[in-house]
Amino acid sequence: MSTPRIALDGIRKSFPAPRGRQEKTTVLSDISLTLAEGEFVCLLGPSGCGKSTVLGMAAGFDQPDSGILLHDGEPIAGPSPQRGMVFQQPTLFPWLSVLDNVTFGPRMAGVPRERYLAEAERYLRLVGLQGFEHHATWQLSGGMRQRAALARAWMPNPEVLLMDEPFGALDAQTRLMMQELLTSVWQATGTSILFVTHDVDEALFLADRVLVMSARPGTIREELRVPFERPRSIESLVTDPEYARLKQRILHIVREEAGKSMLAENGLCPA
Ligand SMILES: Nc1ncnc2c1ncn2[C@@H]1O[C@H](COP(=O)(O)OP(=O)(O)O)[C@@H](O)[C@H]1O
Ligand SMILES: [Mg+2]
Repeated sequence: MSTPRIALDGIRKSFPAPRGRQEKTTVLSDISLTLAEGEFVCLLGPSGCGKSTVLGMAAGFDQPDSGILLHDGEPIAGPSPQRGMVFQQPTLFPWLSVLDNVTFGPRMAGVPRERYLAEAERYLRLVGLQGFEHHATWQLSGGMRQRAALARAWMPNPEVLLMDEPFGALDAQTRLMMQELLTSVWQATGTSILFVTHDVDEALFLADRVLVMSARPGTIREELRVPFERPRSIESLVTDPEYARLKQRILHIVREEAGKSMLAENGLCPA
């Protein structure tokens, strides 16, 4: 088997206790996962289970207490342009044009304009923003802002994109469009994507594999292969009995785990 793009093995992570308390909070107890070259993996789990913490460590923003973090077999010691990150709130500069936002990285690095312009135009076309290059981002809808953020994340041609609930703040219609768009850019580029969501339909529409996390302290509780052919259409998925079966299975686990974290927050032990 070839070396995975990203591999996490036995990751443990705790954070210092809130002021005035002794004990540390263990957020992740033992996380192991892989992301193969060109693969799309969704990480799903109840709120607060540690999904963003996993993503932040894969990005190299933070180090684990113990365990192994690898990109192409090499230790992840810090952030890298080979691992792009997309957040729920697109972090664009409102006063800059779409093009200036998308090319912000290379412009700041002093790369000559002719070296990045064609690439920027390619990504703007892929995300459907051609014709909007010179609009200021405050003039755009939420969906269009997230498209600009996607084009910007793809500008350095990263091997890996880490996405933290990027469509969580969008309305249902826009969200579905963005999921289709993301799938087509992913297929055009071959980037490996680790995508965090708490939406089961979103995970089943996007992923090759879904990893379901347990309540805190987080582990990977279940891994499910998503068998549907691509291109996928939500209309045909919802009438597929296999879709219903997978959705029911995931919902069951997430509800069980969310129940455990509610008990823990109230100082009770799960039965
Ligand atoms: N830097 C930090 N310091 C202290 N606690 C943190 C920090 N980052 C995350 N946490 C805690 O870790 C837990 C998991 O957080 P997070 O990874 O954001 O969960 P999720 O993304 O699944 O909702 C939460 O209880 C959160 O309060
Ligand atoms: Mg989160």
